[in-house]
Amino acid sequence: MQEREKELIEKLAEERLLTEEEFEQLIVLSDEEARELIASLATKQRQAVFQDAIYTRGLIEISSICKNNCYYCGIRRDNCLAERYRLTQEEIISCAGEGYELGFRTFVLQGGEDAFFTDDVLCDIVASLKELYPDCAVTLSMGERSRDSYKALFDAGADRYLLRHETADRKHYGSLHPAEMSFDNRMRCLRDLRDIGYQVGCGFMVGSPYQTPGTIAKDLRFIGDFRPEMCGIGPFIPHRNTPFKDESAGSLEMTLFLLSVIRLMLPDVLLPATTALGTVDHGGREKGILAGANVVMPNLSPVSVRKKYELYDNKICTGEESAQCRGCLEERVKAVGCRLVVDRGDSPRVRKTITEEKCNNGKI
Ligand code: 5AD
Ligand code: FES
Repeated sequence: MQEREKELIEKLAEERLLTEEEFEQLIVLSDEEARELIASLATKQRQAVFQDAIYTRGLIEISSICKNNCYYCGIRRDNCLAERYRLTQEEIISCAGEGYELGFRTFVLQGGEDAFFTDDVLCDIVASLKELYPDCAVTLSMGERSRDSYKALFDAGADRYLLRHETADRKHYGSLHPAEMSFDNRMRCLRDLRDIGYQVGCGFMVGSPYQTPGTIAKDLRFIGDFRPEMCGIGPFIPHRNTPFKDESAGSLEMTLFLLSVIRLMLPDVLLPATTALGTVDHGGREKGILAGANVVMPNLSPVSVRKKYELYDNKICTGEESAQCRGCLEERVKAVGCRLVVDRGDSPRVRKTITEEKCNNGKI
């Protein structure tokens, strides 16, 4: 490891932010020794905030129908070979019920931008989940919507929203998406979600086509400035029926390195070891935890639809029952010295606010 690299990692650990130029240098210089150093600092940071707890979220993929045409995504509109499905409200509730029995206390409803899920329909689903499982958090990951829509869903009980920014570089955004999709609208959505009061998650793919150390540096600065409660990053993996079918996948090593960078920037961030990371490497999720991740998101979708929600090729866990994934992850997490907890797993920042409010109310 070069002296400069060590200096930058130490500065990041101490000051929690670098300049864009410094981030770029850090990425260009990163080698195995640097990855080991940063992973050990990031793991210490994770342990200081969360001890050995790893949070789980039950992912329910509610629709593979999408009006968008992102160049990287397997469920893009123009992929006429994709099999489309949409879960009914009853099916969604039954997946959540199964998840509850298995110890999940957060449900993530994720889907393509499917016009069927109007505010009324989605609010109804959110409200019934909150009524049935009042001790659970509901996270939505349903793409770009209007501010009014986000507000209605929040009022119906949704706690968190995941919307990856995909890239913080406008030009790069334009090379990942068709012209009808707008970088400004993506950013508007994230600001609205934050204003409304959601715990917000942003994120990006590692190794997406046209990504450079410069664009990653911008992503890191964006994350450092926006300070999301959650941050989803995973390797880009090509899908055979997309314009990016011949591009190469993002690397395990760079993803791990960036997980560690993000943990050092935001010590209390909720940082998943993603399914994509487990897809590029059999032990990817365990390695993710050892690089600073503290969340895993196993699939609760009915096995009959899992193969159809195929954002990228060779996605893991498409044949396993929910209980199998839960058991499998419990073992994997144990193997790296951590434990899966039965907990909503709110952001510590929000938990603090909730506790403070309770205390103040108590005094009055
Ligand atoms: N490889 C990896 N991640 C992908 N996503 C979409 N397509 C791919 C792919 N080919 C990610 C995007 C999206 C999230 C739901 O999945 O970042 O925001
Ligand atoms: Fe699904 Fe391991 S997490 S089988």
